[in-house]
Amino acid sequence: MKRVLCVCLGNICRSPLAEGILKAKAQELQVSVGIASAGTAGYHIGSRADKRSEKVGKRYNVDISNHKAQKFKAEHFDEFDIILVMDQMNYNDVSSLARNSEDLKKIKLYLIEEDVEDPYYGEEDGFEKMYHILESKAEHWIRTALQ
Ligand code: 4NP
Repeated sequence: MKRVLCVCLGNICRSPLAEGILKAKAQELQVSVGIASAGTAGYHIGSRADKRSEKVGKRYNVDISNHKAQKFKAEHFDEFDIILVMDQMNYNDVSSLARNSEDLKKIKLYLIEEDVEDPYYGEEDGFEKMYHILESKAEHWIRTALQ
């Protein structure tokens, strides 16, 4: 089974919701892909997802209430086939922990050519917008993981 790790900064807003959306999409497509998430910073280790991410997930039947934030570490390159980062800063931070070119090749920007903007300091509608942005590429990443 292929495994995908979603990565953002705090692992409380974007990547837990991305994880939940990808899990729901894998279930909808009836395929088996392992999905988890992590953050490049350690500020929120052990915390559940931000209430605003939980709330928008719930609205679309994506339950992330069991989330527990963890910090990205180099060993994740061994456990995962694709590391899906939310923005360029995450890309740079994860790349700095890559040990070789195989590790580096696993890192992909979730939106391919643009950032999933950090909604943490914004308003609640930013979370609704983020949900749809993440959902728009969910099938693409599940199908990519299956290749
Ligand atoms: P995330 O959002 O990276 O999408 O989880 C953030 C969460 C927390 C912080 C920054 C971004 N923070 O600075 O605590």
